[in-house]
Amino acid sequence: MNNSDGNFKFALTTPLYYVNGVPHIGSAYTTIVADAIARFQRLQGKSVLFITGTDEHGQKIQRTAEELGLEPQVHCDRIVDSFKSLWDLLDIQYDRFSRTTAPNHQAIVNQFFERVWQQGDIYLDRQQGWYCVSCEEFKEERELIENHHCAIHTNKPAEWRDEENYFFRLSKYQQRLEELYESRPDFIQPVSRRNEVLNFVKQGLKDFSISRVNLDWGFPIPTDDQHTIYVWFDALLGYVTALLEPDQKPTLDNALSQWWPIELHLIGKDILRFHAVYWPAMLASAGLPLPKMVFGHGFLTKDGLKMGKTLGNTIDPFNLVDRYGADAVRYYFLKEIELGKDGDFNETRFIEVLNNDLANVLGNLLNRNLGMLKKYCQGNAPQLTSDDYSSDHPLKSIGVDLGDRVVEMYNNLQISQSCEAILTLVRASNKYIDDSAPWKLFKQGEQAEVEQILYAALESVRLSAYLLSPIIPGISSKIYQQLGFERDFNHNKPVQENEFQLHSKWGKLSNDRTLGKASPVFSKLELPSED
Ligand code: MSP
Repeated sequence: MNNSDGNFKFALTTPLYYVNGVPHIGSAYTTIVADAIARFQRLQGKSVLFITGTDEHGQKIQRTAEELGLEPQVHCDRIVDSFKSLWDLLDIQYDRFSRTTAPNHQAIVNQFFERVWQQGDIYLDRQQGWYCVSCEEFKEERELIENHHCAIHTNKPAEWRDEENYFFRLSKYQQRLEELYESRPDFIQPVSRRNEVLNFVKQGLKDFSISRVNLDWGFPIPTDDQHTIYVWFDALLGYVTALLEPDQKPTLDNALSQWWPIELHLIGKDILRFHAVYWPAMLASAGLPLPKMVFGHGFLTKDGLKMGKTLGNTIDPFNLVDRYGADAVRYYFLKEIELGKDGDFNETRFIEVLNNDLANVLGNLLNRNLGMLKKYCQGNAPQLTSDDYSSDHPLKSIGVDLGDRVVEMYNNLQISQSCEAILTLVRASNKYIDDSAPWKLFKQGEQAEVEQILYAALESVRLSAYLLSPIIPGISSKIYQQLGFERDFNHNKPVQENEFQLHSKWGKLSNDRTLGKASPVFSKLELPSED
């Protein structure tokens, strides 16, 4: 994503999660990624609106509530609380939590419907086909596996439907969409997802139904209360409702005045078609500008199958955070899974990665560095800057443009790659200390050389912590505090206005500060015992 166009506003969304159960690790994954992106944009001084929320209407939710013997709204309220508490536990700093049952949402849906209706893009017809309630989507025969089961929800048969529905004239937008994908190749990412969409659209777009009968849980079609608006038509508009200020009158104009168009819709690959085909066509019909980008990430899988509530093969994120802490969970998913690819979760690997990267590599560098600064430099940061090092110095040569490279990577949503780039500096710093053995030089009375070495390593650990702060805000804060800064990355406000310009560079900061006491920033994890 090229965001270096001087745009200081950045609105991004996670999907609005179904409330058919408490959040699982798949929902947590999208939200963690979005949070890291939002944090990085804020760190650079941008004005960010990070939207998440819940999708509460439709058959799936209605049935879940019925099975539990609860009123749907009561059920939704309970599940929403659990989403919010998980986001708090994971240090997710969202700005808006959009609920499709919120009072102001219906006004937005009705106005939008009206615009599309006025365009002549809605009509009544007969819908026949196989419906997967878990996907809330009609499926083509060829998309189903044996016995008409959904390929994603392999334990759920799709249901045959034959009913009158209102349809949206998607076919009218065939050419507009093809032109969109052509003129804005970045609109759908990564490239593999773009190709999927291009192939799908090439087969010819069919109109899709946007109402349901025999379903109460949702908004009525404004022109015909015998029909309920299809959950996806309603849910996508939740992104628009989220843009309203808390006390603003719920009109489309108000909602779209400040933050539209949205910069990034981050979603999983299963809901790509809705975001990259249906949504832009709906917006075009209503005469609205389109979002800048839709990024479809991969699945967290267990034995190759998508983890999810329906298959029941998921991991409880509450338990994971409880056992290992927010930073550990965030780091693992952001570093280990290249955004866009699928990733299998394995607890042994989880512990290995965290112990190695955060305890043995990052934590160890900070610890030994502070220890030596205390011993050899009275606990002061040596008064040096980048200018005191030659350009081929082993750490300066990596550190000097690391900030710029990492900005580029974050902007391209290469979060795992940016972790790797940062770790390269941390690993090189540990090796540099080993190779140059400042303890020997100190004994030989080479004070200036000792200071040169320790400052270079100190600056490298600081820069790494700063650039990793969108990923591991808690650990980065601890490192910064031990380095003598009053910075808490879980509080949005930068310490100085030009903070990013100074802190994202190697060897540019003033060293006028007292270093703190070294204490471990990440305690090694142990595999839970078998019993
Ligand atoms: N309610 C719709 C979205 C409406 S957006 C206007 C929905 N909800 S969902 O709860 O089923 O899924 C939300 C997101 O979680 C999707 O992006 C989906 O891909 C993601 N994940 C659910 N399970 C997942 C994994 N196992 N792995 C990674 N992400 C997955 O769809």
